[in-house]
Amino acid sequence: MDHSRVPVLEALAEFRRRGDVVFGPPGHKQGRGVDPRVAEILGLDVFRSDVLSLNGLDDRRQSQGVLGQAQDLMADAVGAEQAFFSTCGSSLSVKTAMLAVAGPGEKLLLSRNAHKSVIAAVIVNGVEPIWVHPKFDAERHLAHPPEPDDVRDRLREHPDAKGMLLITPTEWGTCADIRGVARVCHEFGVPLIVDEAWGAHLPFHPDLPPWGMDAEADLVVTSVHKMGGAVEQSSVFHLQYDRVAPEVLKQREDLLGTTSASSLVYASLDGWRRQMVEQGHELLETALHRAGRIREAIADLPGLRPMGQEIVAEGHAASFDPLKLVVDVRELGISGMQAAEWLRAHRHVDVGGSDTCRISASITHADDDETEKVLLDALHALVDAADTLERRPPVHLPAPGALELEQAMLPREAFFAPVDHVPAEQAAGRIAAETISPYPPGVPAVAPGEVITEEVVDYLRTGVEHGVLIPDASDPSVRVLRVVARP
Ligand SMILES: Cc1ncc(COP(=O)(O)O)c(C=O)c1O
Repeated sequence: MDHSRVPVLEALAEFRRRGDVVFGPPGHKQGRGVDPRVAEILGLDVFRSDVLSLNGLDDRRQSQGVLGQAQDLMADAVGAEQAFFSTCGSSLSVKTAMLAVAGPGEKLLLSRNAHKSVIAAVIVNGVEPIWVHPKFDAERHLAHPPEPDDVRDRLREHPDAKGMLLITPTEWGTCADIRGVARVCHEFGVPLIVDEAWGAHLPFHPDLPPWGMDAEADLVVTSVHKMGGAVEQSSVFHLQYDRVAPEVLKQREDLLGTTSASSLVYASLDGWRRQMVEQGHELLETALHRAGRIREAIADLPGLRPMGQEIVAEGHAASFDPLKLVVDVRELGISGMQAAEWLRAHRHVDVGGSDTCRISASITHADDDETEKVLLDALHALVDAADTLERRPPVHLPAPGALELEQAMLPREAFFAPVDHVPAEQAAGRIAAETISPYPPGVPAVAPGEVITEEVVDYLRTGVEHGVLIPDASDPSVRVLRVVARP
């Protein structure tokens, strides 16, 4: 295929060249009506390129097939049989992908280290989750994706399950054995969905971890805005084989998706694909060298321990994305959250992620010598300042297995059940009616339907006292919990 072509961008350029006057949405009419104070900050071009797909980028009959051509090019670029663009982030694409495999009341295997969007999908879709627990790495206090044997055991116990959803890479760059899990799923005749929100760049360099389509997954969801170069909310479904029918995926996407997809998302996805096909190898090669250099420099800083290839080991990760710089800060006597807050406040450096033990920074094709220096200088300064940071009360991290809570009710039933609000100290033994996700990384510690334990309450309460954010809890301070009312 001709990857120098960018159908959406070309249609947008043509639309702007023609100077079409539009009497439909968006009401700002390609910036004519935009408040200049808004344009001053956002730029007028954003509005000029904000165009409906129908009667804008394409005609009413979609005769030029602008989007279809762009999607075919994307599929070709990454080795998928088909690709579909989605404009509501992987949060929505994950829900759609799950719905395309299991309908209400049907069983789906789900890796429990899932992003909160997966728990939301379980509630909205009404699917029965069969949790596959991740491998807990007690030393690092980190959950690694489950392994093929874990999936096989659960499929033997639940032969009526409709498929499996695996999350890889994790927010921390650790990756599952996708091929191994896919083969187990296929032995049982069910599809594997991969939430590869963090993996949009993986197809474009051989030194990066295996990418879902190459590793025999059936349906892969990516967020191109995370490690790639498209604007926020840019997500792509990739499909291969015949276990998930494209028609089913499209119709279920239609249940959830918007009817006003953003041309900015489509156009930037289109441009990212061209850039990666033409220059991806070189750009990512540079990024890999840069990440390696930064990791070595961090290893020389006292008190900072960057995670590296040693994480790839039996019972840990099957592979690791070297572009994720994950740095354990515990030896500095502070938490990852404190490090992230300090870096932002004092050095204007925003690391992408943090938790009790670590921070993470993503290196992408967009980094250069300047950003490399900014990051390293900031980490030097953090090490120098660490002794002056207040010592906050520690988070009581749960022991391995303590976050594998008993599932007493289906998440959907618990979420919509009559509820009580109980003080944290009386919550143990009650069934949660809400999702409680320490953020980041946004992996729920408690899902609706799970039985709350003293240990998990202690973890959440000490977390909040330390500065962990829990925005999705009904009471973000977790002093009061929303639980299923007793009959
Ligand atoms: C593993 C995983 N899946 C899905 C999502 C949701 O993606 P998005 O923010 O594109 O909606 C995230 C977001 O952080 C994530 O980490």
